[in-house]
Amino acid sequence: MRGSEVLFSRASKLFPKGVNSPVRYYPPYPVFIKKAKGSKIWDVDGKSYTDFLLAYGPLILGHSPERVVKKVKEALEDGTLFGAPTEKEVKFGELFLKGSRLDRIRIVNTGTEATMHAIRLALHFTKRKRILKIRGGYHGTHPYNFESERVESVEFNSIEAIKDKLSGREFACLIMEPVMGNIGVINPKEGYLEEIREVTEKTGTLLIADEVITGFRTGFHPYYATKRIEPDIATFAKIIGGGLPLGVYGGKEEIMREVRPSGNFPQAGTYSGNPVSVTAGLETMKILYSRDYSKLKRMTEDAVKCLSESGLTVNSETGMLSLFFSEREVTNASEAIKSRSDLYTEFFRAALGEGIYLAPSFDETIFISFVHGDKEVREKFHVLAEEARRIWKKRSR
Ligand SMILES: Cc1ncc(COP(=O)(O)O)c(C=O)c1O
Repeated sequence: MRGSEVLFSRASKLFPKGVNSPVRYYPPYPVFIKKAKGSKIWDVDGKSYTDFLLAYGPLILGHSPERVVKKVKEALEDGTLFGAPTEKEVKFGELFLKGSRLDRIRIVNTGTEATMHAIRLALHFTKRKRILKIRGGYHGTHPYNFESERVESVEFNSIEAIKDKLSGREFACLIMEPVMGNIGVINPKEGYLEEIREVTEKTGTLLIADEVITGFRTGFHPYYATKRIEPDIATFAKIIGGGLPLGVYGGKEEIMREVRPSGNFPQAGTYSGNPVSVTAGLETMKILYSRDYSKLKRMTEDAVKCLSESGLTVNSETGMLSLFFSEREVTNASEAIKSRSDLYTEFFRAALGEGIYLAPSFDETIFISFVHGDKEVREKFHVLAEEARRIWKKRSR
C-alpha cells in the first residue's frame, strides 16, 4: 500500500481530498490503480484484484477488449478531433437507434451532459418550469439533480406520490432511472413503470428515462424496452462509450426536432461525437449486438445466490447487484438508507484485502461483465458472502 499512500499525499495537495470524483475517496486513502486487463485490475504496488466495480459501470466487456483497443489505436492515427461530421458517428448512430428504438438522437460526452440537456429540452418543449425526480436518483452534478424550488422528488415505487405531484400539470418532466443504481440497486415493482408512462402521458409531463446505467446492460436495448414502454426522452452513457467518454440523449421526433440547428433549443459541444470515443462506442456496440446476454444473466444469478448465503438483502438486475446490510426488503431510498452503511464500508475493506474490488460505498452498484468467468464469479461471491456474514454477526446494536 506504500505506493498508494505516497501518491495520495501528493494528490491531496492538488485535488479536493486527493480525488477527481468524490466517491473515489475512502479513508485512510484510496488504492491507486496502475493498469487493468479483462476482469483484473492492478494497483501501483502490484497487488491484483478481481474488478466488480468496472469503473462504475461502463466496462461491460471488461478492461481493454482487444477489438476495441485495436480500433481505437487506428482512430488515434487518423486524428483525434475534427469539429466536423464523420462516417463513424453515422455508423454509431445507426446501430444505436436499432437498439434504442428512439426516433432521433444527439451525441454528447457524458451522462451528466445527456441528462442536463434532456431536462433543459423538456423545459423548453413543454414551457413548464418544474422538474420531478425520484428520491435517491442520480443524474449527474448539474443543478437539476438537486432538490430546490424547481426540483422536487418522490419516493421510488409509489405511483400515488407521482399522481399527486403531476395532477397540477406544472412539471415539465419526470426523470428517473428505471432500475435505481445510485442508492444501491432497487428494482421497480410490477406495473410501476407502465403506470408512470400512463400518468405522465395524461398530464403532459415528459418522461425522461435515465438509462445511463441500465442502457444495453440487460440486452441490446434500454431497460424500458423490456416493459414495452416508450419514454419521451432517454439518456445514455457508460456502456455505449466502451470506456471512453460518450453520452447520448434522444427521443421522439417532435421533441428532438427542436434541437439546434433544426430547431431553436441551444445545445452544442466541441467534443461531441469525438471520433475516438465514437470508435470505442461503435466497436463495443457491434460486439454487444451479437452477444448472448444469457451468460451475463446466469453469472449475476450465481453471484446473487452466493451473496444471499449471508442472509442479507441482495437486489439485482442482469449485470448489476447490491448488498444491503439489512435483512429487510429494500424498495426505495428511505429503506436503503436505513441499512447499515457503516458495515458495508467494513465489508468493502475486507473485500479489498481479499483481492476483490467493489463499489466503495453501499449506494453504488456492483457490476459483472461478460469477461468474468462462471467459476470466478462463484468463488469470489462465495468469499464475499462469508465476509458479509462475519461482519453482520459481530455487529453491535
Ligand atoms: C443514472 C445516471 N445518470 C447520470 C450519471 C452521470 O453520468 P456521468 O458520470 O457520465 O456524467 C450517472 C453516473 O453515475 C448515472 O448513474
